[in-house]
Amino acid sequence: MDFQAILKTVGILTLVSASLSVIISIAERVLNNYGMVELDINNGKKKLQVKGGSSLLSTLASEKIFIPSACGGKATCGLCKVSVQEGAGPLLLTEEPYISAEERKQNMRLSCQVKVKNNMKLLIPEDLFNIREFICDVKEIEDMTYDIKRLHLQLPPGETISFKAGQFMQFYTKPYGKIKEEVFRAYSISSKASEKDHVELLIRLVPNGICTTYVHTVLKEGDKVRLSGPYGDFYLRGDCEELIMIAGGSGLAPIRSLVYDVIEKGLPHKMRFFFGANTLRDLYYMDEFAQIEKDYPQFQFIPCLARPAEEDNWEGVTGFVTVALADQVDSGQGKEAYLCGSPGMLDACIKILKEKGFTDETIFYDKF
Ligand SMILES: Cc1cc2nc3c(=O)[nH]c(=O)nc-3n(C[C@H](O)[C@H](O)[C@H](O)COP(=O)(O)OP(=O)(O)OC[C@H]3O[C@@H](n4cnc5c(N)ncnc54)[C@H](O)[C@@H]3O)c2cc1C
Ligand code: FES
Repeated sequence: MDFQAILKTVGILTLVSASLSVIISIAERVLNNYGMVELDINNGKKKLQVKGGSSLLSTLASEKIFIPSACGGKATCGLCKVSVQEGAGPLLLTEEPYISAEERKQNMRLSCQVKVKNNMKLLIPEDLFNIREFICDVKEIEDMTYDIKRLHLQLPPGETISFKAGQFMQFYTKPYGKIKEEVFRAYSISSKASEKDHVELLIRLVPNGICTTYVHTVLKEGDKVRLSGPYGDFYLRGDCEELIMIAGGSGLAPIRSLVYDVIEKGLPHKMRFFFGANTLRDLYYMDEFAQIEKDYPQFQFIPCLARPAEEDNWEGVTGFVTVALADQVDSGQGKEAYLCGSPGMLDACIKILKEKGFTDETIFYDKF
């Protein structure tokens, strides 16, 4: 083939591919143009006229109805379930792992996966309508360990938040560096439920994580951040004599709030808090929990180091938190367990708790 023929072929191919992309983009616009549709919520209690084409999760958020979500719509947390009575189409493959047989009967769907294309009928629990959005001032950022920061986020003047100790907020990042879109992630509230003009979060850096890199390297005191919440069903039931609390890393956040809640409300529960870490540099809030232990004999703090370094001169419990749990908790009788930390650690602890007689009704957790 001579040079001219090659040029001609390349030209034709370029023209064909350009025409194809124009056709695809027009088709996308036509196909995604669902116009205005109606969302009927809770049998006509609320009717919204919304623009079709986006996920149900983001469509509801733009109407200030915030459905719990921790993964930012990636279909990996399973928290964004909503009952869609009509208009959602068949269950998608991405939803299947999160929707049980019982939930299928109730038409439960992952709202981040369902696209709003036509009129829909939804059932949304009333308490989700209380979830609000806040633009907060970053009043303080403190290093708690080499990879955990504490954020003190001040609500706008005059605004307050009511939450149950143990619940979480959604934190929205702004685009930065190569990240061109806002993302949101879940963070448990570590501050006291009685402090209603601010929330504190404990955020552990995940290497290459979008939100935690933003918090650890971009966010500064004096900035403004957007939060929504409170969310979640990890909170005190308290139908028992003793609370067994277990956390690792930033999982300490909701447990701290729970401990203060029990104390401030003058509840009678005994509390034992097992905190698992690798080495001394992973421990934080040590002085504070030691002080609570002194002031309130109902509370016992048990930090456990899995691999203390020689220079740590560690004299406390050595070994995985599971070992301390197996040694020190005799049975599940009269107790509830509250756990927060990585899935691996929590699964291992839950196995031990069940061997001791705890049940699904007496074990509560947030895995992250
Ligand atoms: C109910 C709930 C409460 C939570 N509370 C807290 C809290 O109080 N403090 C806190 O620090 N985090 C908390 N998390 C976790 C938090 O929501 C984010 O998932 C986490 O901070 C990572 O976000 P990212 O945007 O930085 O990482 P992403 O950009 O989402 O992830 C980047 C990469 O890291 C991997 N990755 C994500 N998370 C982890 C992890 N934990 N360990 C190892 N690899 C990971 C991902 O698979 C991905 O490959 C909570 C999660 C839930 C569901
Ligand atoms: S938002 Fe996480 S599964 Fe939908």
